[in-house]
Amino acid sequence: MSAFSADWLALREPFDARARSPAVLDAVAGFFAHRHSVGIVDLACGTGSTLRALSPRLPPRQCWTLVDNDPRLLARAASTPMSQDVTVTVLARDLSHDLEPALGEAVDLIATSALLDLVSEAWLQRLVIAVTARAIPLYSALSYDGRVVFTPPDEFDAAVIGAVNLHQRTDKGFGAALGPAAADVALARFTALGWAVVQGTSDWQIGREGREMQDALMDGWASVAHDTGTLSGRDIAGWLARRRAATAAGRSSLLVGHVDFLAMPSATR
Ligand SMILES: C[S@@+](CC[C@H](N)C(=O)[O-])C[C@H]1O[C@@H](n2cnc3c(N)ncnc32)[C@H](O)[C@@H]1O
Repeated sequence: MSAFSADWLALREPFDARARSPAVLDAVAGFFAHRHSVGIVDLACGTGSTLRALSPRLPPRQCWTLVDNDPRLLARAASTPMSQDVTVTVLARDLSHDLEPALGEAVDLIATSALLDLVSEAWLQRLVIAVTARAIPLYSALSYDGRVVFTPPDEFDAAVIGAVNLHQRTDKGFGAALGPAAADVALARFTALGWAVVQGTSDWQIGREGREMQDALMDGWASVAHDTGTLSGRDIAGWLARRRAATAAGRSSLLVGHVDFLAMPSATR
């Protein structure tokens, strides 16, 4: 299953939906509570997970612009059933180049999920500049933060996740990625600019009912551990076999750490 395939995004969406920080979602809803309508740009929207998660928390009249560089994902996002007060427009853009034009001018909220850990520090700085220039909030959900807890533990867990976290820093199309540091770096930038932030964890909690999700994650982690070359193929294969046996026996659970935040222009700025 590839990193951005529709199948993978469908598999993870229920875990994302349960994980999204309620405190951060409440903060987004509170920010717009007095408004009747709102314009949102969702960066790297995939099949529209953030549209589905956030729309029920926003004022009834909504105008969404969904941006991604994959037209097949955009087509799925565009087919999300929405109330007649919600308009959805899709925009195929490579955000590594076309961030600023994709945002447009008439926007009240920039949203994104599972994107910031893919981007470089320089790209994040472009986003911070674009957000602060418009003086509108940024809702960022589900940035991976490097924490993974396996139950039951295995002696190679730490080495495999160490390799995964190294791989997270490689270029995903935006330059060398921030990976697990992304949310901390973004929060530090906004705070330094005097912006208010609300943050919360949005950890995936994957129990025995999530066997397919666990297996997909472990297969992916084994594959990227191979790519980093920090572990022998034999150690990785042994680790994967033990972990898969535990999921097959219904004995395995996983916590995968993520961070959500809302950054908003502060009244005291
Ligand atoms: C991990 S997925 C997250 C999708 C969605 N936000 C979600 O939470 O389900 C990352 C998304 O970034 C998109 N993406 C990756 N590189 C991109 C680029 N250079 N320009 C625009 N979108 C990009 C992918 O197509 C994919 O939809």
